[in-house]
Amino acid sequence: ALVSMRQLLDYAAEHQFAIPAFNVSNMEQVHAIMQAADAVDSPVIMQGSAGARDYAGEPFLRHLILAAIEAYPHIPLVMHQDHGANPAICARSIQSGFSSVMMDGSLMEDMKTPSDFDYNVNVTRKVSEMAHACGVSVEGELGCLGSLETGMMGEEDGHGAEGKLDHSQLLTDPDEAVEFVKLTQVDALAVAIGTSHGAYKFTQPPTGDVLAISHLKTLQQRLPTTHFVMHGSSSVPQDWLEIINTHGGDIGQTYGVPVEEIVEGIKYGVRKVNIDTDLRMASTGSIRKFLTDEKNAAVFDPRKFYKEATKAMQAICQARYEAFGSAGHA
Ligand code: G3H
Ligand code: 13P
Ligand code: NA
Ligand code: ZN
Repeated sequence: ALVSMRQLLDYAAEHQFAIPAFNVSNMEQVHAIMQAADAVDSPVIMQGSAGARDYAGEPFLRHLILAAIEAYPHIPLVMHQDHGANPAICARSIQSGFSSVMMDGSLMEDMKTPSDFDYNVNVTRKVSEMAHACGVSVEGELGCLGSLETGMMGEEDGHGAEGKLDHSQLLTDPDEAVEFVKLTQVDALAVAIGTSHGAYKFTQPPTGDVLAISHLKTLQQRLPTTHFVMHGSSSVPQDWLEIINTHGGDIGQTYGVPVEEIVEGIKYGVRKVNIDTDLRMASTGSIRKFLTDEKNAAVFDPRKFYKEATKAMQAICQARYEAFGSAGHA
């Protein structure tokens, strides 16, 4: 059944767990997420980005998620719009039936230039007014996602600032966060703690100076009832990196956000954990492996390798539901 983000995150807070929010743009991802949720009895957050709308087209994206609700009526599901660049985009998603929208006012509409506090408050408050009138939840973002090592925003294949960010932009300011939540009435707040989008997050397994989980504790002391969202929270599985690179791929050495660090963050109010890259890597790795295996040389039915991708993605989804504690809460 379709539920709002607020309903689900309030419940998660009460029971001290978080829900992975998986990005979707095709049917195999939707299958994997739902099969895993069904296997472990977890609620689901599925989110569509601007890139997903470009790829699938809005009606296909929407109907894929609606198909998941129809096929699994017993599983609570949030249909969330990821990273809205302006209020009009959020308005269209509300109109088309999403139960949650993200207004990302941490960046200007170009999704490259960091915004100032007043701009962010204004656009986010506007979306909250619209969304709440329709029973739809709102996620806002304060602070910029980016590397505390390099000041770069990451995201090699999508949005991201060209210039360097300074340290103060890369960690959500606690005083501003209190003010932002009060002024905008968001249901969930995405925070900056050193994570970034895409596969290239950290050059080594991250330590506390580049992945500031402790900053969540500071934020939670000031905002004890706010639901925090971690973006850029793929773990960049080293086994899939290896499989991709031993089957014709060439991805540089890189590290993601360790699952145990996310689990630590859940103690400090993290309730939604955004994951896209991990499913992309599992999908690519499993398809590369299948197609380069000489015993599959004669295969030309794509369902054969799509099925491998679905299985690989399902295993990751299931592991995240279990680790974040949402398993058993459908
Ligand atoms: O926000 C970042 C997500 O990974 C979405 O990426 O815009 O390429 O679909 P995308
Ligand atoms: P990853 O690139 O780490 O999977 O993050 C996805 C994300 O934050 C989508 O909003
Ligand atoms: Na989002
Ligand atoms: Zn994101």
